[in-house]
Amino acid sequence: MAHTHNILLFPGDGIGPEVMAEAVKILNHVASLASVSASHQFHFRSELIGGCSIDEHGKSVTPEVLSIARDWADAVLFAAVGGPKWDSQRRGLDGPEGGLLQVRRALDIYANLRPCAADTPSPSISREFSPFKRDVIEGVDFVVVRENCGGAYFGKKIEDADYAMDEWGYSTAEIQRVTRIAAQLALRHNPPWPVISLDKANVLASSRLWRKVFEQTMQTEFPQVQYMNQLADSASLILAINPRKLNGVLLADNTFGDMISDQAGSIVGTLGVLPSASLNTLPGLPLDAGKKQKALYEPTHGSAPDIAGKNIANPTAMILCVALMFRYSFDMEKEAKQIEDAVRNVLEAGVRTGDLRGTATTKEFGDAVVAELEKIA
Ligand code: NAI
Ligand code: MG
Repeated sequence: MAHTHNILLFPGDGIGPEVMAEAVKILNHVASLASVSASHQFHFRSELIGGCSIDEHGKSVTPEVLSIARDWADAVLFAAVGGPKWDSQRRGLDGPEGGLLQVRRALDIYANLRPCAADTPSPSISREFSPFKRDVIEGVDFVVVRENCGGAYFGKKIEDADYAMDEWGYSTAEIQRVTRIAAQLALRHNPPWPVISLDKANVLASSRLWRKVFEQTMQTEFPQVQYMNQLADSASLILAINPRKLNGVLLADNTFGDMISDQAGSIVGTLGVLPSASLNTLPGLPLDAGKKQKALYEPTHGSAPDIAGKNIANPTAMILCVALMFRYSFDMEKEAKQIEDAVRNVLEAGVRTGDLRGTATTKEFGDAVVAELEKIA
C-alpha cells in the first residue's frame, strides 16, 4: 500500500506565492517519478496565513486553518508573511507573523533545525558571498538544533515602567525531548556526528539543569554518540574563527539557538538560500501516545515586499525546504539528496537569480532545477 502524505501549503504574502510555486513544481516532479509514485501519494491543500488572511478574514490565521494544520497535515510548507501594508497597524499575535506563531504552537514543533554547510546550496555561492576567507569555511558542515517552544521567549513576563523581567526556564522533559532530536540527527550520519550543546552553565541555573539532563540523556540513551558542552559565548567566537570545529549537531536553547543560527547564516553569506525545519520528532524516535509526527518547513528569509510580484525572487531556500521535508518528514533521503544535488548543479552552472548577481527569473530557476532532476533522478 502506498504511503499517503498530507502537505499543507502556506504561500503567504510578498514573494511567498512566487517561491512556493517553484517549490511545488519540484515537489510534483519528484512525486511523479515512477520510483516514488509506486509507494508514495502526496495530497496538497493551500491555505491563507499572514497578511492575506488578515485581509480576507480579519485574522492572521483562522481556527479552521489551525485545525487543518493540527488534524490533517503531516507536513507544512510555509513561504513568508508580512509587508508594509500590515506592519504599521498590527503586532504580535495580531500581526501577520502571529499566524506562524500560532501554527508553531498548535503543532508543538519544539526542535528548529538549520543546516549550515559551506557547499550548500553550492560551494561557489559561499565562496562569493561569505564574508569569511575561503579556507576558513571550507568543509564547514553542521546543523543547529534550537529548542523552539520554551525558555525565555515563552516564560512569564513582567513589564513595569521601571522594571522588566523574562523568566528563562526549562524542565527536564523539555531538555530531554530536544536532546533526543539532536542525538537522533547525529545518528543519521555514518559515523555519527558529535552533539555539541551550548549553554551558560557558569552563570545560569537553567543552563545547569540543561547540561545535566543533556549529559544524562546522551549517556543513557545514545551511548554511541559523542557529546560535548560548549559555553555559548565562546561558541560564537569559534564560529567566527574556526567554524569547522563545530561540525556536527549544535544543540541550544531558544535564546542561544536564535543567535547561533543567525550567526551561522554568515557562513553562506546570503539570504534566500537557507531552509529550516521545525519538528516534533524524527524517523527512528518513539512518539508519545496520541501524538502524530508534525513538521513545518520554511525559508529563513522574509516576504521581501521590495521585489514581490516581479518574478525575480530566489526560490532556492523554499526548494531546499522541500528537500528537508522529504528527508525528515518522509524519510526519503534519496529524493532529498537529489533535490539538493540538482540545486547545487544549477547554481554551479551559473543559473542564478538577481540577489546572487544572476539574471534568471524565479520561474527559470525552478525550471532549471526540474530539468536537472530529470537528468540525475
Ligand atoms: P526579507 O528577508 O524579507 O528581505 C531582506 C532583503 O533580502 C530584501 O532586500 C529582500 O529583497 C531580500 N530577499 C529576501 N528574500 C529573498 C529572496 N528569496 N530572493 C531575493 N531576495 C530576497 O526581510 P525584511 O526586509 O526584514 O522583512 C520584509 C517583510 O518580511 C517584513 O514584513 C517582515 O516582517 C517579514 N518577515 C517575515 C518572515 C517570515 O515570514 N518568517 C521572516 C522575516 C521577515
Ligand atoms: Mg532570529
